[in-house]
Amino acid sequence: MDRDSAKQAAAEAAVQFVSDGMCVGLGSGSTTAYALEFLGRRIQAEGLDVRGVPTSFATERRARTHGIPLTSLDDVPTLDLALDGADEVDDAFRLIKGGGGAHAREKVVANQADRFVVLVDPTKEVERLGTQFPVPVEVLPMAATPVMNALEAAGASPTLRTADAKDGPVVTDQGLWIIDARFPGGIDAPEALNRMLCDRPGVLDHGL
Ligand code: 5RP
Repeated sequence: MDRDSAKQAAAEAAVQFVSDGMCVGLGSGSTTAYALEFLGRRIQAEGLDVRGVPTSFATERRARTHGIPLTSLDDVPTLDLALDGADEVDDAFRLIKGGGGAHAREKVVANQADRFVVLVDPTKEVERLGTQFPVPVEVLPMAATPVMNALEAAGASPTLRTADAKDGPVVTDQGLWIIDARFPGGIDAPEALNRMLCDRPGVLDHGL
């Protein structure tokens, strides 16, 4: 099975967890985009009463395209289910997320869900987190240099995320910047890195 078919298969399987009356967190990324398509089809074919809480502007737009009614955590603070992708997953089900830069909202939405289903294809499975993918860290622009220095001191090679289609840093849905922190050989202690980043002023959230 090629990678795209594997993403579609994961998405189709994940959407089977949705049932009538549910409020569902809608993640971001290409795998979740397939899930939105499958969910839209199920809503139409089965007449499901389902509402979604999107985790990014991109997902909000996609969900509307597929006819998924939307709500927010203001109206529905507790969700039945959240569906989302990931960039890496290890044997302990620890994840790196945020390849699409939506991890801050994704974590808020997942945290409000009774059940969190992660849609990954086999290329995302790693023995050690950080071997294939950097950890994205969303920061206030004025804190970017101090945070990059702290990441370097923790053994990372940090770079400010930019995009071919844009001159300058990628700006997130919150108007902030993203530092991608590569850890040569992977991350020794993900929990300690999590604590270090959460304690760092100027960091909104990170992808661990
Ligand atoms: C976006 C994410 C995505 O879920 C993650 O990057 C996986 O994306 P894809 O399904 O395109 O491989 O965390 O912030």
